[in-house]
Amino acid sequence: MEKRAMRDGVHFIGVVDWNRRLFDSLIPLPEGTSYNAYLVEGTEKTALIDTADPALEHVLMEQLRNVEKIDYIISLHSEQDHSGSIPSVLAKYPGAEVICSPKAKELLVDHLHLKEAAIRTVEDGETLSLGGKTLKFIHTPWVHWPETMCAYLEEDKILFSCDFFGSHLATTSLYAGEDPMIYEGAKRYYAEIMMPFRSIIRKNMEKLEGYEFDLIAPSHGPVYDKPAFILDAYRDWISDRVTNLVVIPYISMHGSTELMVDHLINALVKRGVMAQKFELTATDIGRLAIDLVDAATIVVGTPTVHFGPHPAVYSAVHLANALRPKLKNAAIIGSYGWGTKAVEQISGLIPNLKVEVLGTVLCKGMPRKEDYAALDDLAEKIAEKHNGLDPAR
Ligand code: FEO
Repeated sequence: MEKRAMRDGVHFIGVVDWNRRLFDSLIPLPEGTSYNAYLVEGTEKTALIDTADPALEHVLMEQLRNVEKIDYIISLHSEQDHSGSIPSVLAKYPGAEVICSPKAKELLVDHLHLKEAAIRTVEDGETLSLGGKTLKFIHTPWVHWPETMCAYLEEDKILFSCDFFGSHLATTSLYAGEDPMIYEGAKRYYAEIMMPFRSIIRKNMEKLEGYEFDLIAPSHGPVYDKPAFILDAYRDWISDRVTNLVVIPYISMHGSTELMVDHLINALVKRGVMAQKFELTATDIGRLAIDLVDAATIVVGTPTVHFGPHPAVYSAVHLANALRPKLKNAAIIGSYGWGTKAVEQISGLIPNLKVEVLGTVLCKGMPRKEDYAALDDLAEKIAEKHNGLDPAR
């Protein structure tokens, strides 16, 4: 692919990773991803904003083949999917200065072994003139590491935001428009990368409120040519609003827990409550993370393995705790053969979730009439808590 013009002197350098299916050896990427760099040419200086994952460095370098000089390599984020090709870009343009936030300097030295002398740090609000093009640096920590910043191209009203507002999506589309698929890709990205830092993201969003944007150009996924599309989505995701949705991650070894889950779902639907079940041996945990962005309630379903929850349930609950969603309510259901400590162990895994525990329903062996009645009572309690909530999208 060739570099693509966005504005006079502003090019998109897209490195599309069509085949990547896992990020950080953890996060599923069903639609692949991209590592976007941007070339900004002023009358005097040229800046490259971010680079690409080293695995596809050759795709980046191919798009730079006719670029004679780069004066600045702007590193908005030190994670290697954006910074990892800096050493090769520096080898091609040995006079280039690496520009980053003060916190990023140490990370770039540690992760890439860059020479400190090649790095210049910029403070929050500092500007860099390229000649007719001015980049203003806006420190936006924790989108996604503590050192992250954005760069605002004042003359063209373009925000280069790196991970912030990104979407994991492999596509040849340069612009996002208002594509629902990109909305889902961005929500998946927010859930997995940004959600744990929701209160800090709020502050970063407030910091951006004073700017006008014609384009928002992240380093994953297409460029937002209708910035309100992604800004409004983020405003919603970081708000305290929860929806009428119960997420039910579960495992069933011999069918008892599945019977309970299905009974509970029917009981919830009868009461006007929506539910989504996730069978954890087959589920895409990114899909679960998306629903955790605004679901009001989580019900964990588990059988008992060696007196504790099933390891897949343990893992999913640990992840939900780490993502810190805005859940308001929780419950645990499941079965056991002769004894269980599943409830105690799951409860100990969720210190970050500020939830009201609405109850537990555990049955010995196959569920009986009284177990189903207990599930009906739980559904009633959930319905009372969901009364008046917005429908899930
Ligand atoms: Fe896309 Fe945090 O790296």
